[in-house]
Amino acid sequence: MTLTLKQTKLEPKRIPLIPSYPPFRQWKKSALDDKLKDRSLSLYLHIPFCTQRCAFCYYKTVDLKERPEVEGYVDALCQEIKMVAEGFQLSNRPIHAVYIGGGTPSLLKEHQFVKIVEALTENFKFFNEKKQFSVEAEPLTVSRSKMATLVKLGVNRLSMGIQSFVDEIIKLSGRGHDEKQAYRAIDIAQQEGNGKWNINIDLLSGLTGETDETWQKSLDCAIATGVESITVYKMEAFANTQVFKEGIREEILQLPSEEQELKFMKQAMEKFAQANYLPWSFFTYTKNGIDRSEYTMSIWRSTDFYGFGVSAFGCLDYSLLQNTSDMEKYIATVARNEIPLARGYTCTSLDKMVREVLLGMKLLHLDLDEFKQRYGFNLKKLCASIIADLELDGLISVSENAIDLTSKGMLYGDFVGVSLSDYLRQSSDLSSEIISL
Ligand SMILES: C[S@@+](CC[C@H](N)C(=O)[O-])C[C@H]1O[C@@H](n2cnc3c(N)ncnc32)[C@H](O)[C@@H]1O
Ligand code: SF4
Repeated sequence: MTLTLKQTKLEPKRIPLIPSYPPFRQWKKSALDDKLKDRSLSLYLHIPFCTQRCAFCYYKTVDLKERPEVEGYVDALCQEIKMVAEGFQLSNRPIHAVYIGGGTPSLLKEHQFVKIVEALTENFKFFNEKKQFSVEAEPLTVSRSKMATLVKLGVNRLSMGIQSFVDEIIKLSGRGHDEKQAYRAIDIAQQEGNGKWNINIDLLSGLTGETDETWQKSLDCAIATGVESITVYKMEAFANTQVFKEGIREEILQLPSEEQELKFMKQAMEKFAQANYLPWSFFTYTKNGIDRSEYTMSIWRSTDFYGFGVSAFGCLDYSLLQNTSDMEKYIATVARNEIPLARGYTCTSLDKMVREVLLGMKLLHLDLDEFKQRYGFNLKKLCASIIADLELDGLISVSENAIDLTSKGMLYGDFVGVSLSDYLRQSSDLSSEIISL
């Protein structure tokens, strides 16, 4: 890429005082429209406990067998909700979505869910507007009475980790349930929800021992359950997992190759299209397009969200904030009546643009007019050469005011977002070098 700057000869002269920028003639009444409204906020609550340690899982969670103090943690979480709502003056902000994730939130006892919802209701304007309220679940912790309590508390989206419907694959992944128990849990959730919530199930592509046959079976079973949403994650073998130790380092476990995994994802996309499960991100497909995770979308669109609980993170007006990841410190800090934040980051203008492109592309569509409106740049011109390459490779389609991921682009996940944002960062380095010449 070559950048040239016009060099003009400076001839200093006295000019009228500049009172403001941009000039007043560009200011419009319509720009005030949402300034008088409180900006909406999403809330994430982290439950860091599990009933098992799955071989593939990289989340930092505590096994219930180690007898963690769950009740004390829930109390600390409720106390943190109160302190944060007051300390950051968030109580009056309209709540867009609430997400209780983990770990395994569904292992909480019913009275613990009640405590959490009471804390939310007392400190936020949560139930004034009926917004999306999601809880993550694991099959063995699903019971009729717990599901009924969640529905009563206003939960309207349940996201269940299933990973596979094939017993031998589930067993190899270190999970405690089997195929029958997975069906039973989905059945109970569907009956108790009875139309009051949407159910998402997670599948993992690339698990140990997976073959074309086992993967096809899992896809068919997932679709046959009739759940509103199916998410397919690509299994990542992170260094802190048993899969990494035994599959990558010691090569005892047989993991599918990259090519096989790509084929699995292609098969999934074909089957979902046939069953009319439509994508809203490159890994979540919803029946007739009726369900989306509003919380996830708010993170990717960089709207405000706050994360409660150990290691939880959030973003307020482009300032990223994260709680301590140390459970003892978390409990002790909250007990001292202090907000347990441990680190943060304030986004630069470039970070904001990169986030918009990198995270926004996960939602399959980037609105170029909105980008121009927010940052003043024409992204198509700014990234012309990489956009042309990605289009030539069939990964994106580009129109007058949008960039969309094609099916091929979706198959490669974050590749387009990463390529565009790397290019943006490099262009900014280059232009700052030229400017400093
Ligand atoms: C917090 S868990 C879901 C709820 C519950 N803990 C369970 O496993 O049933 C969220 C999801 O993360 C995904 N996940 C876990 N480890 C992963 C990995 N190594 N790579 C990709 N996805 C992973 C799984 O699909 C899992 O369902
Ligand atoms: S996949 Fe779910 S149940 Fe398994 S360890 Fe991770 S968070 Fe816990």
